[in-house]
Amino acid sequence: MKTARRQHSSRPAGAAAAGLPLELAELRARLADAEEALRAVRAGEVDTVMVAGTAGSQVFTLDGAEHAYRVLIESMNEGALTLTAEAVILYTNQCFARMVQLPLERVIGSSFLRFLSATDQLAVRRLLKRAAKAGSKIRLLLRAGTGAQLPVLISIRPLTTPGARDATLSMVVTDMTEARRSEERLRALSHRLVDMQETERRRVAVELHENISQLTYAILMRCDTLARTLPAGARASRAELLKLRDLLDQATEEVRRIAQDLRPSALDDLGLLPVLRRACELFAKRASVRVNLKAVRSIARLPAAVETALYRVLQETLLNVEQHARARHVTVGLRQLGRQVQLVVTDDGIGFDPNRYPARQKGKGSLGLLGMRERTTSVGGALEVQSAPGRGTTIRARIPFDPDTLALAHS
Ligand SMILES: Nc1ncnc2c1ncn2[C@@H]1O[C@H](COP(=O)(O)OP(=O)(O)OP(=O)(O)O)[C@@H](O)[C@H]1O
Ligand SMILES: [Mg+2]
Repeated sequence: MKTARRQHSSRPAGAAAAGLPLELAELRARLADAEEALRAVRAGEVDTVMVAGTAGSQVFTLDGAEHAYRVLIESMNEGALTLTAEAVILYTNQCFARMVQLPLERVIGSSFLRFLSATDQLAVRRLLKRAAKAGSKIRLLLRAGTGAQLPVLISIRPLTTPGARDATLSMVVTDMTEARRSEERLRALSHRLVDMQETERRRVAVELHENISQLTYAILMRCDTLARTLPAGARASRAELLKLRDLLDQATEEVRRIAQDLRPSALDDLGLLPVLRRACELFAKRASVRVNLKAVRSIARLPAAVETALYRVLQETLLNVEQHARARHVTVGLRQLGRQVQLVVTDDGIGFDPNRYPARQKGKGSLGLLGMRERTTSVGGALEVQSAPGRGTTIRARIPFDPDTLALAHS
């Protein structure tokens, strides 16, 4: 049996720089030793690796028949590691060494945790404990030897080696830089779409109001004049004209409603609170649901984009209550907490599982909740959905804002 030894050194890193020739020579010898051990491991010439740790030496067996797997792992585009349950790296491939920008020999035998921030170390420790029983995944930032950070996805699984005394784990580290860039591009695109949709809605609402409404209003006036000037005997014509006038009146009202739905002009003129109040009143009437609006009367005018986002969240949430919740009571709360505004909508309806709601149509996902999330994140906020079957639903949108920009936003 051939054995490669790896010291898990506790010597401070600066010791070699102390200038002691003897120590330097010792370090060189140990490095040569490690390089030889590593070469032998990678060439499949050794059967075991000994790792000297604080609790004494541990022996890990490498079966010669696994040589082919080692070659495969070396050619992978992902970091592949085997670890002890305490996160000491027993083996890794060149790809992982490139990720952490260190030579392979300085990675093997050291702790995986050294490449993580303190917070991520805690998370991975917890994961390692769980991973001894079942696999788990986590996204985090890997800290390279140079200090550079790399977004990665790590996936850990227990390695069951028949007869092995010590539990080992396998880990695959995937570089998420490209995936993250694509996510960011997608997010930017979706925020831009939200902006464009809002601009377009405002344009159509203004045109409807200024062109169509004014035109129908003018026709109404003419109808009135005509009705007054018709000869006394033209009763049938007058009756027909009045019916026509009523229809026109309805059409004007409908155009006004559509324009309001598209973009309530009061949102720009009066601010969020009156618009929320109106939306709640209309909803209560339309859906026969009791609505309780709890809002601080003195709430400041918020940046226009924030007010619009919150209004859209309320609009979509109330629509969902109407279509799905079978609720009897809805509470809408608007609060300002320092530099953050929070809109909370709670219903006492049937609730649902937010992780597994059914698609609206075959092949077509539901877009309401997704749209609300986009709206809130596009202004730097976050949306929380709390629901469970039979327990009602709470939608909470939290958006931070800078009070110093308020005057500008509404000037
Ligand atoms: N308040 C609620 N009460 C009960 N179920 C809800 C509620 N809100 C949402 N849901 C459930 O979540 C699903 C997703 O809602 P979402 O608004 O994303 O899509 P949708 O309403 O189905 O379709 P869309 O909004 O795109 O017209 C709904 O189909 C419904 O099953
Ligand atoms: Mg919906």
